Amino acid sequence: MCGILGYTGERQASDILLNGLAKLEYRGYDSAGLAVLDGGEIKIAKNKGRLKVLEDRIKSGCGISGTCGIGHTRWATHGEPSDVNAHPLWSDDMSVVAVHNGIVENYREIKNKLAEHGYKFYSQTDTEAAVKLIDFYYKQEKNPLKAIIKAIQKIEGSYCFVLLFKDFPNEVWGARKDLPLIAGQGKGESFLASDVSAILQDTRQVYYLDNMEIVQLKKGVVRFFDTEGYAKPKELSEVTWDMNAAEKGGFEHFMMKEIHEQARAVKDTLGSVYHSGRLNLADMGLSDENIKKISQIYIIACGSAYHAGAVAQYVIEDLAKIPVRIELASEFRYRAMPMDKDALAIIISQSGETADTLAAMRRAKENGIKTLAIVNVVGSTIAREADSVFYTMAGPEIAVATTKAYSAQLIACYVLAVQLAKVRGEIDDAESERLIGEIQKLPEKIDEILDEKERLEELAQRFANARNAFYLGRNIDYAVAMEGSLKMKEISYLHSEAIAAGEMKHGPISLIEKGMLVAGIMTQKNLYQKIASNMLEARSRGGFLLIVATRGCEALREEADFIFNIPETDEHFAASLAVIPLQLLGYYVAVARKLDVDKPRNLAKSVTVE
Ligand code: G6P
Repeated sequence: MCGILGYTGERQASDILLNGLAKLEYRGYDSAGLAVLDGGEIKIAKNKGRLKVLEDRIKSGCGISGTCGIGHTRWATHGEPSDVNAHPLWSDDMSVVAVHNGIVENYREIKNKLAEHGYKFYSQTDTEAAVKLIDFYYKQEKNPLKAIIKAIQKIEGSYCFVLLFKDFPNEVWGARKDLPLIAGQGKGESFLASDVSAILQDTRQVYYLDNMEIVQLKKGVVRFFDTEGYAKPKELSEVTWDMNAAEKGGFEHFMMKEIHEQARAVKDTLGSVYHSGRLNLADMGLSDENIKKISQIYIIACGSAYHAGAVAQYVIEDLAKIPVRIELASEFRYRAMPMDKDALAIIISQSGETADTLAAMRRAKENGIKTLAIVNVVGSTIAREADSVFYTMAGPEIAVATTKAYSAQLIACYVLAVQLAKVRGEIDDAESERLIGEIQKLPEKIDEILDEKERLEELAQRFANARNAFYLGRNIDYAVAMEGSLKMKEISYLHSEAIAAGEMKHGPISLIEKGMLVAGIMTQKNLYQKIASNMLEARSRGGFLLIVATRGCEALREEADFIFNIPETDEHFAASLAVIPLQLLGYYVAVARKLDVDKPRNLAKSVTVE
């Protein structure tokens, strides 16, 4: 997500902030900005586009001097990338200026409340609502700590804020919930950063903030407070990572870092549309009336986004009872298919720029079909051209092989399925709440799976020299098999195929050799025995059986060579859990083969040519 910095000391803040933000560029961003507090006045410079643009403007005279400031690189979530939406954002009289990372889920409610008190809003961001809420309490309390405490008790979502208060020279304030914020201690200076790599050139002495803690920086002094306002002692830690490791959050590769960010991506994607017990999809053109009219759904995408759509096909059909066709964008764009005018086209894309997906979406529009894009990059072409957009909240993804964006796409699809089912009367309110409750529990289950990753690391050693693999499943498990198989082949270069288990005997089975990896996905109770039979056929021809199964599945207990159990969940959502061990397996095989995991040969993160 966004990069955040704060500094107070003896040096020029703009130099420190620009240098620090440059260290965060690798994370991806669309705009940058900073604010410096000098002599009771806060000056701001910010713009859409590269940090270099900001730097050139500052160095060529939009003078912004002072030794206390905050900085930000933005990855848009609410509101397109623009000068106005770039951070910092401020209260009307510039008493409070802030940069923010994360999502204020209840920003609409906050804005409405503040509007009753005369507040006006100039940006499309959720951040502005939070800044003005802090300002609202600051006007009452005249005390930054009390204002922050009151505001964060009202703000829902995950966030980290770094703030300046005009009346408090040389001070920077911060607070966090569920997103990282660290404080750095130097001689006569102190720092705040969302990512240790931003301050490593200045200090290695850091404090890690806990959730709902508030921090105050003065020159060389860092203090912490709890939400009661009491000061909290904290232990200083020494960072021993080098810069390269720091960028990756201590992980060896971005892919592994992003695998670990999935719980957060899932939570934020759900949180962006579900809060205070209500699903809010009103902005997506999905009024009850429109939902009731849908006769058919086309899901159109490429690569992993297509695989997320493949899961969605089963979930939507089963919950909402609407016929769904899943289409490869590169095929759909050239099909002369009669399309029903009351159909809905759901376009899934992480980048929002994939050429085939864009062309396919345009084709659907030419046919008069309504388009809803599920996209990760705000302001991307697909997001701009679609009739409506559901933004996933995965944040920037750097590894070419997608993990967290795929997981976030699944959540968007589940939420849509639940809403469609509810509005069309296929499920009642209680069932809808139960299903959302199950989605809410996915993040902790994903983390539970990650706690067992070493088992897969060991298993991967065995396949470091393998040449072929099969991934089998039926229905949702087949869709997961497709994604698992792609993860394996794209980064480890091990030839791998996903096969609808029932198709094995129509050809693929002839390829099975002694010791070949045959992975079976088993999360759908009614299909356990069916997949088990197909797996046994593979075993009797020498296949090595890896089973990824929901806890409690007894099938193949004796016969499997390796079983990885995933926690129980509602079966509609099992893909979100079953895919995790398969991502890890692909990753570990690639590492065992000493390959460039984050940048596999011949592949691009965003495929903007046909
Ligand atoms: C490339 C990426 C994949 C991605 C696919 C579709 O092949 O390497 O990870 O799934 O494009 O990209 P999109 O941005 O449209 O989701």
